[in-house]
Amino acid sequence: GVDPVKLMKQEVGKAAADRVQSGTIVGLGTGSTTAYTIQFLGDRLKSGELKDIVGIPTSFQAEVLAKQYGIPLTTLDAVDHIDIAIDGADEVDPQKNLIKGGGAAHTREKIVDYLADQFIVVVDSSKIVDRLGSSFAVPVEVIPMAISPVMRAIEKLGGKPELRMGVKKAGPVITDQGNMVVDVKFDSIDDPANLEKSLNNIPGVLENGIFVGVTDLVLIGEVQDGKPVVK
Ligand code: A5P
Repeated sequence: GVDPVKLMKQEVGKAAADRVQSGTIVGLGTGSTTAYTIQFLGDRLKSGELKDIVGIPTSFQAEVLAKQYGIPLTTLDAVDHIDIAIDGADEVDPQKNLIKGGGAAHTREKIVDYLADQFIVVVDSSKIVDRLGSSFAVPVEVIPMAISPVMRAIEKLGGKPELRMGVKKAGPVITDQGNMVVDVKFDSIDDPANLEKSLNNIPGVLENGIFVGVTDLVLIGEVQDGKPVVK
């Protein structure tokens, strides 16, 4: 049968693509959900229903997909704003705060998503949590020479850091910027805004995956009576 999670991702990815208007600058998120958004944006451009958009990719993955689906790209040096950014997330809490970085792309995602006039998050219902950190560890991008002191400093903050290892690679995951990722498990994240700042204050940390107070809208894909719906 068809994978219901895939159906939810497809439906919600499309719903976000439908919100993009002609003549806008669009932040293109990373992950399997926004991959559908990029695909549907390409479809809308091809059909002529959508015109003159330009994308800013949040990762190498988003850049490759955008090229594949015919979305013209630009860089932050060439524009003075972003109209809309669409991105996935690993966890979403009731305040629309997020944990991102499951794809190791949270640093560029944070730059792009925070610049957007409108930031839309696309997730399937499995990503909705009461409290951040319930099931997902906080990804932290670290400059390689600082990996040991950063991991010790993270332990002092009460986190359990784990260096993210590659799947089809011997050794650690290397980000698009040439850094490493530490996944940090916390017993409970009571104050995400404070934890975000504390982690980023450790010398050698480039950026962490906690996003606070930036999400404008969350589109949630669900399956009802065997059919995907967006809420
Ligand atoms: C990338 O680093 C992450 O922030 C992704 O946005 C997140 O992992 C969502 O990915 P999926 O849509 O594949 O779940």
